[in-house]
Amino acid sequence: MNDRIRTDIAHNARVWNYWLGGKDNYPVDRAVGDQVTGFYPSIGEVARADRAFLGRAVTHLAAERGVRQFLDIGTGLPTADNTHEVAQRSAPDARIVYVDNDPIVLTHARALLTSAPEGITEYVDADAHDPEKILAAAGATLDLSRPVAVMMLGILNFVLDTDEARSIVRTLMDAVPSGSFLVLTHPTLEPELGGEGNKAAMAFWNENATPPITARSRAEFTSFFEGLDLLEPGVVSCSRWRSATEDTHVVAQFGAVGHKP
Ligand SMILES: C[S@@+](CC[C@H](N)C(=O)[O-])C[C@H]1O[C@@H](n2cnc3c(N)ncnc32)[C@H](O)[C@@H]1O
Repeated sequence: MNDRIRTDIAHNARVWNYWLGGKDNYPVDRAVGDQVTGFYPSIGEVARADRAFLGRAVTHLAAERGVRQFLDIGTGLPTADNTHEVAQRSAPDARIVYVDNDPIVLTHARALLTSAPEGITEYVDADAHDPEKILAAAGATLDLSRPVAVMMLGILNFVLDTDEARSIVRTLMDAVPSGSFLVLTHPTLEPELGGEGNKAAMAFWNENATPPITARSRAEFTSFFEGLDLLEPGVVSCSRWRSATEDTHVVAQFGAVGHKP
């Protein structure tokens, strides 16, 4: 086993995999996952809504906006409908670079390297706190002079300092040209999204699991899109972003897509 993998403490990538119904997790992940669900019963629904948002956003960008390059930071463990599978369904020539810093995701990265022959997928073992390193590595696969969809779904919540999180986003978006997109999801405590239950769940998480997490308000989440044009319907529960039906249940996870003018 990779000696970076710790089985004595719950890891986010593995617990997320557990909530999504996956099998790439350990007893400690399932125990903490169940306890978090006790504090916040809709967490499994949040995880599923987040993945469904990924599907709709990537399909929209590939099929309707002509995006052919995706930089998916905080990829998570391979699951159904990974970014390259969704993108290449509409655009087989799409290029995808995945980035995560969890050793177990690296161990399973092979399952992400199943590109359509016309396109390419690559995996980079790197930390979101080091966007320059990510850009340097991504540049080997992506043409950073052409539009890129920078995706950070459920990961900026692990960059605890909001100014640093904004600076990471700015560094990434400054490195890609006009016509690029920023795709984000992020947990919140906002009552409008029913986020109150997140508070106790996150406090429990921070005492029992890794990495530590934080929630952000609507204003903080929206600030990540400064200088970008938000696509309709703007900042909403990720379950409501361009969903087929109006009556989709709201979850305490913001989702939005911004366009770099
Ligand atoms: C909640 S999961 C989201 C996975 C996927 N993006 C999704 O939306 O289903 C967050 C992922 O971010 C990764 N992650 C957390 N902090 C990170 C960091 N500082 N650098 C890179 N990846 C990180 C975790 O390992 C995990 O795989």
